[in-house]
Amino acid sequence: MIKETAYTFKILRYDAKKPDEGARFQSYQIRVIPGLTILAVLIRIRDEIDGTLSFRSSCRSAVCGSCAMVINGKIDLACRTQVASFGTNTIILEPLPNFEIIKDLVVDMTPFWQMYEKVRPYLIRKTPDPEKEITQSEEERKRIDQFVNCILCASCYGACPVLARNPDYIGPAAMAKLERFVLDSRDERPGDILDEINNENGVWGCDTVFRCIDACPKDVRPTDSIVGLRKAILKKKLFGKYR
Ligand code: SF4
Ligand code: FES
Repeated sequence: MIKETAYTFKILRYDAKKPDEGARFQSYQIRVIPGLTILAVLIRIRDEIDGTLSFRSSCRSAVCGSCAMVINGKIDLACRTQVASFGTNTIILEPLPNFEIIKDLVVDMTPFWQMYEKVRPYLIRKTPDPEKEITQSEEERKRIDQFVNCILCASCYGACPVLARNPDYIGPAAMAKLERFVLDSRDERPGDILDEINNENGVWGCDTVFRCIDACPKDVRPTDSIVGLRKAILKKKLFGKYR
């Protein structure tokens, strides 16, 4: 028989439609078998105990990026975090910082997507498309590897101390995405996008404290992208082009 362990889940509850009720922690007692994830427990609480609990999820396998939250003080994906990994029987769940809460663990991602759109996160070409696909060498593909792995979970955005004090800062995920295209051998975007981030709300606003790297569940290093973009800006200033 599989051994169950008793856990207390303390979950931050808040409803933006009922602001007078304020934010509070609500406790749920759950018996958990080994291997169960935080997301599996949340689904059980919602389905069996309290249907008013709100959270986001979809893939349940660390691919869609929708279940990022603060788990016992650390930002991570609920679907890839096992309940038993904390060495305590109390698990505290809070929504991602640096966002407005819509309800419970669901935050308003609008500012994140607005910053993301600013960097034009798609391949831009000047020359006409070839008849066949545009190939890349292994070396060229390796340059963008880590940035391609981004699943847009916003963990880095939630962890960023600059965004905590400056909501106009473009943020680590958008810059990682921009660097992904600046480094892409097939992309031919004009350098004006670098002028747009050549300021304190862009590459020069970063505190370089690496919290985005610590928070990223896919081993993307947004700080690398910020350093790369700073270099591209200087290159463009000195030589008139960033490549
Ligand atoms: S860089 Fe990492 S933490 Fe940031 S959005 Fe992408 S996957 Fe999430
Ligand atoms: S449910 Fe898709 S990343 Fe967690």
